Amino acid sequence: MTGGSDAFVLFGASGDLAAKKIFSALGRLEAAGVLPTLLLGVAKSGWDIERLRERIRESLKTHAPDLGSPVVEALCQKFDYVDGDYQDEATFKALATKLEKCKAPLFYLAIPPSLFGSVADMLNKNHLTQNAHLIVEKPFGRDLSSAIELNRTLRSIVPEERLFRIDHYLGKDAVLNLVYFRFANSFLEPIWNNRYVDNIQITMSEKFGVADRASLYDELGTVRDVVQNHLLHTLSILAMEPPINATADANREEKTKILKAIQPLQGDRIVRGQYQGYLQEKGVRPHSTTETFVALETSIETWRWSGVPVYIRAGKCLAVTATEIMVQFKKPPISITHEPFPPGANYIRFRLGPDRVEIGLGARAKRPGPTMVGQPIELLVMRNQAGEEEPYELLLGDAIRGDQSLFASQDAVEAAWRVVDPILKLESPIYEYRDGSMGPEEADALVLHHGGWHNPTTPSPQAG
Ligand code: BG6
Repeated sequence: MTGGSDAFVLFGASGDLAAKKIFSALGRLEAAGVLPTLLLGVAKSGWDIERLRERIRESLKTHAPDLGSPVVEALCQKFDYVDGDYQDEATFKALATKLEKCKAPLFYLAIPPSLFGSVADMLNKNHLTQNAHLIVEKPFGRDLSSAIELNRTLRSIVPEERLFRIDHYLGKDAVLNLVYFRFANSFLEPIWNNRYVDNIQITMSEKFGVADRASLYDELGTVRDVVQNHLLHTLSILAMEPPINATADANREEKTKILKAIQPLQGDRIVRGQYQGYLQEKGVRPHSTTETFVALETSIETWRWSGVPVYIRAGKCLAVTATEIMVQFKKPPISITHEPFPPGANYIRFRLGPDRVEIGLGARAKRPGPTMVGQPIELLVMRNQAGEEEPYELLLGDAIRGDQSLFASQDAVEAAWRVVDPILKLESPIYEYRDGSMGPEEADALVLHHGGWHNPTTPSPQAG
């Protein structure tokens, strides 16, 4: 852990992410008394400080209505503002003047990734990076080679221990609970391997489409938007070995080992889809073949996991908004009744939100009556309303303190790109699917031998 920061500088202060996520997180950190005394917004919008403060007030009214006005005003008053082009020396000179008294500023680049390199370069040229921390938003690169290149540029300016690659999924309470549940309970350990686990499924289903992010999304597609980052990192947490201690390095090392062992994706084990009506969304290129849905199979080639298929599915305009992980156990080898046991009857289900966080244990039990006939049951091990701390609050608080535990390392980011890289340039078919379905039927074939996909429901199975 490096030392804390004495100024927080937000590039992209007039942007969407700032309004939707960052100001409310900063508001809560202000309420907790952990923000540095100087906060600086930077944007190219022709704004002044009063316009920025108005935006902050509007944002907090919507996204953190519980914060009292003394906190909101304290946050607004801490902010200063620099308006200017990110390519223009004058912007950085103005910034340097405002930061004159700071020894360790934290620069948060909440801006298009294509600008990361040049902004970092300008900060460097203006002698602002000597003791600085840098946060960059995803997507971190477009493919393996651009991620390597970007890492090289950023690392020539700021060392790895002061570089924070943010993936908000890693700050979700439900994802942290996954680590906690796995390593705080010894009963899981003997069965958490290829002798007992039949397959793993991760589904990230979203009911909504690309909405006002259409042109950005059209450049990305589902694999770059959520698989390369959120879902592969979540898988690494599900599958990693226990870290040797609680340090950021030990944690990141174990996750990275798994990311390195995930097998690169193969064209014949991936199904891409696009929802009907996507091509009519404003901002989508004519005849775009960008996927809004993907289903794929991979595996983790380690002693613990070799031979266990991992299925990942994600998409927009699907039937529900829910993310679930199913770890399905093998069937008992012999049935002691005349009834064959169906696949997928024994499982652990992790619901990662958004409405609730749950852990369910799927089993079979006998139906009441004289015959040995069973039924599926689920023991709900845990259920929390997802009124959790917002990931950005946790992650920005950590970054301000200099704690990298929940941020992706260079090795991890590059390992995850290595997994998806082979299919990024493949012209694989794209299947149309209906809004409100669970994606194209072609995706079903992938998991046919394992009893099909597990579809998360809303509300979850035992909601009362
Ligand atoms: C973002 C993706 O990183 O994560 C979005 O760009 C996606 O497409 C979002 O909707 C999901 O995050 P959450 O926290 O809302 O589940």
